[in-house]
Amino acid sequence: MTTHLDSSLLALSRLVALPTIVDERGGLGFVESERHVPFDVKRVYYLYQTTAGSSRGAHAHKLLEQVVIAGSGSFVVTLDDGVATRRFELTSPSVGLYIPRMLWRDLSDFSADAFCLVLASEYYDEADYYRSYADYRSARGL
Ligand code: TYD
Repeated sequence: MTTHLDSSLLALSRLVALPTIVDERGGLGFVESERHVPFDVKRVYYLYQTTAGSSRGAHAHKLLEQVVIAGSGSFVVTLDDGVATRRFELTSPSVGLYIPRMLWRDLSDFSADAFCLVLASEYYDEADYYRSYADYRSARGL
């Protein structure tokens, strides 16, 4: 599949506000499909106990859309359309990062207490991945 360069792709990524209810007992956050995230959530996965200095991601998805949330701690998500990058530091469980299809992503700078919660629009499918940056750029027509 060849996807022609769309310079607005990076601009589709955005931070989304997530409802949280905080009282003296602590915080409660929630996410509803199609309301707080712009897709039907088919899968949830999470990254935890990330070892010091580790990076994750380093891939793009053909169809998958995601919202990434720092459930605790913080980390950096760098999005790349093959030409330009956008960097987001996620530090709050009340903010999610929406990542559209066809953007390369790297996750880095995990704090020791980071919990990275990911809401995904599709079931896991290895065929949906570009794991080579060269293949990704080529698919973008670059
Ligand atoms: P990967 O998507 O490469 O993780 P990350 O981007 O965080 O480094 O997945 C790592 C491994 O986990 C890979 O073997 C695929 C497997 N996996 C699943 O089986 N199901 C899932 O939902 C996910 C996200 C990964």
